[in-house]
Amino acid sequence: MQARPSSRQETLALRRQLIGSSCKLFFPEDPVKIVRAKGQYIYDEHGREYLDCINNVSHVGHCHPDVVKAAHEQNQLLNTNSRYLHDNLVDYAKRLSKTLPEKLCKFYFLNSGSEANDLALRLARQYTKHEDVIVLDHAYHGHLTSLIDISPYKFRNLEGQKEWVHVAPLPDTYRGIYREDHKDSVLAYANEVKKIIEQAQKKGRKIAAFFIESLPSVGGQIIPPEGYFQMVAEHVHKAGGVFVADEIQVGFGRVGKCFWAFQLQGEDFVPDIVTMGKPMGNGHPIACVATTKEIAEAFADTGVEYFNTFGGNPVSCAIGLAVLDVIEKEHLRAHATQVGNFLMELLNQQKVKHPIIGDVRGVGLFIGVDLIKDQEKRTPATKEAEYLITRLKREYILLSTDGPGRNVLKFKPPLCFTMDNAKLVVDKMDEILTDMEREKTCELVGNHH
Ligand SMILES: Cc1ncc(COP(=O)(O)O)c(C=O)c1O
Repeated sequence: MQARPSSRQETLALRRQLIGSSCKLFFPEDPVKIVRAKGQYIYDEHGREYLDCINNVSHVGHCHPDVVKAAHEQNQLLNTNSRYLHDNLVDYAKRLSKTLPEKLCKFYFLNSGSEANDLALRLARQYTKHEDVIVLDHAYHGHLTSLIDISPYKFRNLEGQKEWVHVAPLPDTYRGIYREDHKDSVLAYANEVKKIIEQAQKKGRKIAAFFIESLPSVGGQIIPPEGYFQMVAEHVHKAGGVFVADEIQVGFGRVGKCFWAFQLQGEDFVPDIVTMGKPMGNGHPIACVATTKEIAEAFADTGVEYFNTFGGNPVSCAIGLAVLDVIEKEHLRAHATQVGNFLMELLNQQKVKHPIIGDVRGVGLFIGVDLIKDQEKRTPATKEAEYLITRLKREYILLSTDGPGRNVLKFKPPLCFTMDNAKLVVDKMDEILTDMEREKTCELVGNHH
């Protein structure tokens, strides 16, 4: 006999009792208990429908039937590690290679974004025989020890920066050190990286890699100015290092016009290593590192085998292939462009109406709305942003914030998000912002958690 399902309060109590308290919930004061999902919608235990504006893992839509079917069919046949010959692994690598520049032709499969970035670090160090890493301020690259070390977003709150880690400023032309009024922000930001390399070299240190999220998301949904990657790569290569593009959040067509977000920088730009994760398996844990023949060979030259029990298993690869099929079959890249442009247009209309909206930036279905307290200093409107997403949740819309000031509303919904969904969210935002202006309700934030 099936046990009675636990109530939300019971589940919460059990979670508090059994799960490490560092594992945080969304909306901790009033968490949503979810039981099923479909497309861009998630349902709670009472069947109430929430619109999901943030889940970039359920890339082609929650529980997409084609992906579920591919997993089920392969599960019935075989699932094991990748030391036997199996078609799914090579078929998937072949399909992925078609989306990438030719130079990126060697693949490693893993289970999470963190594993992918950790392997990228090992590859970079083995190939270059150098140790040091340059990262962007506020970046997050994963939860492993090695990655906390290269994630200022995390290490700033822990024991601090290791001597082999160097932090470059975020190329953020809205609130960074060089803004939209700078005459050449690309050059200025790239020169900051050059300066860091020179300073490191003066101390006898050698650069193994420059890690960057192709569109820095935790940093506040930043769109790096075009040409920045090429210039930085030139400095990094000159120092003997490699360029790692972290596509774990932003890859697989989210940006619409390109399959990979690094391609927004121009066709002439090719990273040395690309890491992939989250959207790859539409919820199933699968990740990948793509790199060049030379880097893969240098890694093999150690004579040490790379073995990952679950990485690239037949089920994971069947799922990965199904996700790629759905992106193509449902024209999700074109859809991301169309819906993303429409959403940006609506948000820009709101910007004219509500002074709290300082900036609307994005590409495809990766969009940030920067909320500010004042036009001049662009002080992050942190409390107001929190208040807004709390109110939206009461309207059954799930949105969240990012950026060092936690004031940037981030949109990264499943790619099946529609124009109607976009209109609904923006209408609700408009209502709430109008309320906030009328009543200055943000002062009441503390009462609304
Ligand atoms: C940019 C980026 N890189 C790496 C990771 C780590 O991925 P995972 O949580 O799958 O280990 C994340 C996760 O949030 C991420 O956002």
